[in-house]
Amino acid sequence: MRILVIGSGGREHALVWKLKQSPRVSEVFVAPGNGGTAREGAINVAVDAGDLDGLVELARKEKIDLVVPGPELPLTKGITDRMREAGIPCFGPDAYCARLEGSKAFAKDVMNRAGVPTAHSQVFTDPDKAKNAVVKLGAPLVVKADGLAAGKGVVVAMTTQEALDAVDDIMCKRAHGAAGAKLVIEEFLVGEEASFLCLCDGKTAVPLPSAQDHKAAYDGDQGPNTGGMGAYSPVPQIGQDVIDTAIETIVKPTVQAMADEGTPFTGILYAGLIATADGPKVIEFNARFGDPETEVVLPKLTSDLGAGINAILNGETPEFTWDEDNATLGVVIASEGYPTNVVKGAAIPEITVDDDSHVYYAGVARGEHGLVANSGRVLLVETSAADIKAAQDKVYAIIDKLDTKGMFYRHDIGFKALNA
Ligand code: AMP
Ligand code: GLY
Repeated sequence: MRILVIGSGGREHALVWKLKQSPRVSEVFVAPGNGGTAREGAINVAVDAGDLDGLVELARKEKIDLVVPGPELPLTKGITDRMREAGIPCFGPDAYCARLEGSKAFAKDVMNRAGVPTAHSQVFTDPDKAKNAVVKLGAPLVVKADGLAAGKGVVVAMTTQEALDAVDDIMCKRAHGAAGAKLVIEEFLVGEEASFLCLCDGKTAVPLPSAQDHKAAYDGDQGPNTGGMGAYSPVPQIGQDVIDTAIETIVKPTVQAMADEGTPFTGILYAGLIATADGPKVIEFNARFGDPETEVVLPKLTSDLGAGINAILNGETPEFTWDEDNATLGVVIASEGYPTNVVKGAAIPEITVDDDSHVYYAGVARGEHGLVANSGRVLLVETSAADIKAAQDKVYAIIDKLDTKGMFYRHDIGFKALNA
């Protein structure tokens, strides 16, 4: 099998690393990839993840058998539709289904029609009406830009004034551009949070182990929201009963709803959940592998990823087996200033790890004297150990002794599991 992975983050490095383990995979190309994917022996090709024409041309030229898109942009732009037209299997939803991630109003509409438990919400296109609703409902409230905003379009407002300011920023000042043309105002849910990802074939869904991201930049969940500063798996405070309920009440009805519309959902359905006192409820859908969740979930996979995805796309029963004895935990090292004022150029030290640990690179470039940081999230160090505490101790033992000048990381990844 010749595989094309689309994207350039830590998630794509982890996908490449896992796909490369398959005896059935002869070559992995990455568009555009990064220094880490090249180190895994993949072939980086300088085609942007949003360049659909370039990606189709590359897949044709290299006789690709399977395309695995990482980020949301190519999916919402229709890379799966384009690859299908070219007769090339692509493991992702078509543009219509990717709207589950691309438009929060669309996702709410699907969930409400399918009876999927989610935070109560209202959708607005008029800022004055949105502000009236904020005043009437009162804080706490969650204000969300409808469209894609790189994980930054959500404001959890603990006061009514914060919610009014968020409406102003998103709708009037267009802080996230066209993503703010519509706005969702949502009930604030209380409970443990988890990312629950399923591999879907249009009819059925195979769950991946649960994971928890840490979106805030600084320790103790302080500071601005980021793309994710670290993750661990599984989430022990979310019991198997909650997972079973989520499959029955969230995943199955959503997959069924998309099939009923004549547009079956293929690829990763990622439900961001809050386990409330009334059961798990959806706070967001994504239509792809999570980042950094993928970096802690894929190391647990003990079966062949490429073969599993291939089986899903061929309508066969895929084999996915997981290491259920160990916990994994990963910590992101980011450039100083991330996510607001990234200062690039920090020197990245060589990091030596044992067989149970990995370094997944994201924003790295080759400099004169080795790797240098060229983006916000630079790399993630992940390890596997008997439990979350042991994994946490082991990861910090690796990174605390590194020279991370010009970069920073959180010191408390996993704290919710340990406090539970
Ligand atoms: P999102 O970008 O949609 O994942 O939202 C960012 C963060 O905001 C989530 O990780 C949650 O911690 C929080 N959040 C989003 N929606 C809600 C909600 N309805 N209730 C409580 N917290 C929320
Ligand atoms: N970890 C959050 C995301 O992938 O959207």
